[in-house]
Amino acid sequence: LSQDDLYWILNHLGEERQHYAGAVAPPIFQSSMFAYPDVARLRAALRDELEHPFYTRGHNPTVNILRKKLAALEGAEDALVFGSGSGAMAAAVIALVGAGDHVVCVDKPYSWTRALLRDLLPRFGVATDFVDARETAAVEAALKPTTRLIVLESPNSWTFEQQDLSAVAALARARGILTVCDNSYATPLHQQPIAFGIDLVVHTLTKYLNGHSDVVAGAVCGRADLIRAIFRGPYLTLGAVLSPNDAFLALRGMRTLPLRLERAAATAAQIADYLRDHPKVSQLYFAGDAGDPQRELSARQLKRGSGLLSIRIAGGPAAAERFCDGLQRFLLTCSWGGHESLAWPLCALFDSENYASARSSLPLDLVRLSVGLEPAEVLITDLAQALERA
Ligand SMILES: Cc1ncc(COP(=O)(O)O)c(C=O)c1O
Repeated sequence: LSQDDLYWILNHLGEERQHYAGAVAPPIFQSSMFAYPDVARLRAALRDELEHPFYTRGHNPTVNILRKKLAALEGAEDALVFGSGSGAMAAAVIALVGAGDHVVCVDKPYSWTRALLRDLLPRFGVATDFVDARETAAVEAALKPTTRLIVLESPNSWTFEQQDLSAVAALARARGILTVCDNSYATPLHQQPIAFGIDLVVHTLTKYLNGHSDVVAGAVCGRADLIRAIFRGPYLTLGAVLSPNDAFLALRGMRTLPLRLERAAATAAQIADYLRDHPKVSQLYFAGDAGDPQRELSARQLKRGSGLLSIRIAGGPAAAERFCDGLQRFLLTCSWGGHESLAWPLCALFDSENYASARSSLPLDLVRLSVGLEPAEVLITDLAQALERA
């Protein structure tokens, strides 16, 4: 995207200001349904509920502005907006698979993507194999004659492992298999999976796209025929739609996405430089960093890392706990991509009495940092004192 296109999308695309008194910020169409003056026009609207206001579970004009902007940002033909990122992923997957189908998924997806594929869909006859997809050959080896879908998340959101998007897309296309990629980490500003041949892109808008930690929302972007299939199926039937008020907030948040992402990425790089050789840090995970084992792949598909990085604290989970307890400028909670800095310790998911017997695919001393908009010096000073306590 050129800067001109980017700001045209963020500020103008989808906004029909002539219809609402020239309002610069879009109105919140807080209405559950839309009436027509005669049956002929009602019938015409009903024929295409995706594009025409009729009932807000199908189409709402405020939500529609967000939908058009997200599609354009991803270089997609169309998009649908949901009440959460998990709702978006579930709708995309459910629309594309049926009983007897097989799915291949990356081995460390977002936890509720894992729950969808591992716990929910087997009840409906859909089986999934989870594979370490850093090597495309591992994806290929997991394919079966019944494989219908490959679910990617690149980079993932704890340790930022990537998949070769164009190689996996080519592999899938050749076999008539569809691909979906969670692109929440990168946002369309740092990576556009559709340009690499991926069929559908899923986002949680809760993170960078909204960026203010006040909305839970999601989206699916992709080919018009696939978006229509999702719309007619799970979108309307499961009804996990976004409210017009939350769509308004997400639109407002998205206006400043380029500035926020640029700032968070630059500060995260400075923090990574500080942490890389710190004696209390046993490992640093930062996508695209000089030490990132997948940096060649990053150079091909990921424009830049974002504001997320993870560290392992030397001394194990108890030391990680002391480090987190000492932080004063990072809020201790889940999620990421907001204006404020956060720390999310993996050890919080386990009982400290049972660290030794905990079953986890990730090390318990892992702490994810989501870098916000504070100056780097403020955050580094805080990290330094908290690492002393670790
Ligand atoms: C990578 C990723 N995808 C999807 C989701 C789900 O998004 P939401 O919380 O909006 O349902 C999350 C949430 O943390 C996430 O980190």
